[in-house]
Amino acid sequence: MKIVVAGTGYVGLVAGVCFAEKGHDVTCVDTDDKKIKLMEAGISPIYEQGLEELMRSNFAAGRLHYTTDYKNAYKNPDAIFIGVGTPELPDGSANLGYIATVSRQIAENLEKDCLVVVKSTVPVGTNDKVEQFIRDFLVHKEVKIEVASNPEFLAQGSAVHDTLHAARIVIGTESRHAEKMLQEIYEPFKLPVVSVSRRSAEMIKYACNDFLALKISYMNEIANLCELVGADIEDIARGMSYDTRIGSNFLKAGIGYGGSCFPKDTKALKFIARQYGSQLKTIEAAVDVNAEQKTRLFHKACDRMITFQNLKVAVLGLAFKPGTDDLREAPSVDNIRLLLESGADVYAYDPAAEENSRKLFPEGGIGKGHMSYVDSPELALKGANICFIFTEWKQIKSLEANQYKELMQTPLVYDGRNLYSPAYMEQGGVEYYGIGRQRRQ
Ligand code: UGA
Repeated sequence: MKIVVAGTGYVGLVAGVCFAEKGHDVTCVDTDDKKIKLMEAGISPIYEQGLEELMRSNFAAGRLHYTTDYKNAYKNPDAIFIGVGTPELPDGSANLGYIATVSRQIAENLEKDCLVVVKSTVPVGTNDKVEQFIRDFLVHKEVKIEVASNPEFLAQGSAVHDTLHAARIVIGTESRHAEKMLQEIYEPFKLPVVSVSRRSAEMIKYACNDFLALKISYMNEIANLCELVGADIEDIARGMSYDTRIGSNFLKAGIGYGGSCFPKDTKALKFIARQYGSQLKTIEAAVDVNAEQKTRLFHKACDRMITFQNLKVAVLGLAFKPGTDDLREAPSVDNIRLLLESGADVYAYDPAAEENSRKLFPEGGIGKGHMSYVDSPELALKGANICFIFTEWKQIKSLEANQYKELMQTPLVYDGRNLYSPAYMEQGGVEYYGIGRQRRQ
């Protein structure tokens, strides 16, 4: 089928590339000319395992095209997938500005019947509005358009794998024709398809993300209680994981969830419920727990220290999770801000997110503190008085207790990802604090 994908971010680009990989003829549209040129040269604008290989092979095979010329692209495809961003507005609602822009462009250029598929995460009812909006602005009034919902469940860092081997495809349609077309598009993927109404599909996306966020906040609260009652959250998670009703994933306690999805989608669903005069108490609690969890270790360290002024602080890991350079809502950002305000001399290491972090915290004096970046965890630790671990990169996980002991001036480690057992670190001469775990007395 002839498919156009609007937007070449995580959702759009990965979907486009995977559709091409499965044999469809795909054109990816973006407004940024520089980005298009890079993609034509086989360079991905996002850091995603396996993506560039597929971009190059499908581009070479002539199944994948990139363009800024949306007028031409939207003329006569069989289906257009909208994968543009829906960032959070200050009140927690989703910004649908990009969706509206693309819808208008589609309406003004479409010359043939077409299925428009919304892949972006959008509030319930948005697909209805998009359909009405496109019909209102259609220049060629004889053209028949239908809108379908097809939410995306990929996680950053494993986006290509998650798309090609998705647990399920959710399609939300209002007609047998739209349902059949989407089934045909996904037929070569050989994956289970859950076919529901448009509004249910939109809701499934929020329900999934918010459930996972809830699960993490729940584990973080249990972890905090573990510290008080003398239990170990890693053992609790292990004990829980064998119960198939609970499952073994997303039980990892830490310094809170970040990224562009959970924080945004929890706030969006909270907003949607309030809009309908209702309240999602569990989700509101998950949001609050996460906000506190993010700086829990910093406050714990404050209780231990007299001051951060002129102390060398090693920060290991900046990205919101490993395998990505994304800093959106990353716990490292809140913590570095607090550390710099407190006068700390921060030495940060991250194998992928340094460039993005430099945009927020350029090297040099910031507030009462000072920011520096280094190329290895060892350089960050050298002569440090405290170390904070914010991301579980393998380069950080592979450090051994004796390296902290030998490299740091005072081996004091606050680990937001529970990379080590407290006993191991303390035997190695490191004063170690994790999340929801006991320090040996
Ligand atoms: C998430 C979902 O996992 C995807 O299914 C969804 O498609 C995507 O959002 C989206 O809506 O686009 P992502 O944000 O890329 O994907 O990352 P996750 O791997 O889910 O991690 C999110 C955050 O939760 C990270 O900060 C991670 O450190 C944290 N986390 C995850 C925990 O603290 N504990 C866990 O057990 C799991």
